[in-house]
Amino acid sequence: MRKRQIIIDCDPGLDDAVALLTAFAASDTLDVIGITTVAGNVPGDLTARNARIIRELAGAGKDVPVCKGAPVPMLRDAVTAEDFHGSTGLGNIDFPKPRIPASRQHAVNFLVKTLRATKGFPATLVITGPMTNIALASVMAPDITRGIKEIVLMGGADSEGGNITPHAEFNVFADPHAAHAVFNIGVPVRVLNLDVTHQIRTSDQQVERVRALGSRQAIAAADLLAASNRLEVAAKARVAPLHDPSTIIALLRPDLFDGRKARVSVVTEEGDRFGKTVPEYREDGHVLWYDKADADDVFSEMLGQLGKYR
Ligand code: BDR
Ligand code: CA
Repeated sequence: MRKRQIIIDCDPGLDDAVALLTAFAASDTLDVIGITTVAGNVPGDLTARNARIIRELAGAGKDVPVCKGAPVPMLRDAVTAEDFHGSTGLGNIDFPKPRIPASRQHAVNFLVKTLRATKGFPATLVITGPMTNIALASVMAPDITRGIKEIVLMGGADSEGGNITPHAEFNVFADPHAAHAVFNIGVPVRVLNLDVTHQIRTSDQQVERVRALGSRQAIAAADLLAASNRLEVAAKARVAPLHDPSTIIALLRPDLFDGRKARVSVVTEEGDRFGKTVPEYREDGHVLWYDKADADDVFSEMLGQLGKYR
């Protein structure tokens, strides 16, 4: 069977980095054909650099281009999340300087060109950051939807409430106009939102099980998860949710998640609900809004994938 081709659009970010490591580990089923980066958790220069660090750590090279994308959101002012990711975006962990440069191609151009060239074998878009790049690509070239099999994204919240404001989740809040466009882009979308990711938290004992795998990639993943827990405990007195890695697990093991079909809009009017996702649950919705996960099995799947590094 042909591998599923995926493009990961991200803002690394501690949990984005773990998602990337997990995706590269799953190379027997997933073919990462490119990484596009966006400003989000930290400014755009840093998210691109962090993606290059992780690409090299995973043993991938120039054939998986890292393309730097939008440095600012579409309409709102930029927001960042250093409190949860450290000033470098990777928890101030000391990683070797990346040697392989970023692609010279802008992320939006890469998306348009690549999605137009999928020729009957559409790619999956995984989005783990603010959705600016994908929204811009879809405005620039609406026909790219023909090259998208589905979008699996981390963003939004309903019953759980927000994590950056009482109503809004960070990725959507950081570019609500873009998120609204992506939720309504016209391809199937699966959403790992806070209602479900808040059920999947990695305990310090689980982090140590990752570390015990022993490869340098697994040890780095453990360092990233531990840093995430430290920052989250300081800010919220709980260990961190496995937000972004859950997108990769949902590709590999959709059976571990459950949800409802919906149509989703985003509040873009100024006010305290700015950036809130509003799912309208209905059978003809093209969005699958997850609200349940088997947390232990999600962790075991991630552990199993990271265990493939030697
Ligand atoms: C999302 O926001 C970011 O801080 C994380 O990387 C994740 O993508 C969670 O709300
Ligand atoms: Ca992210």
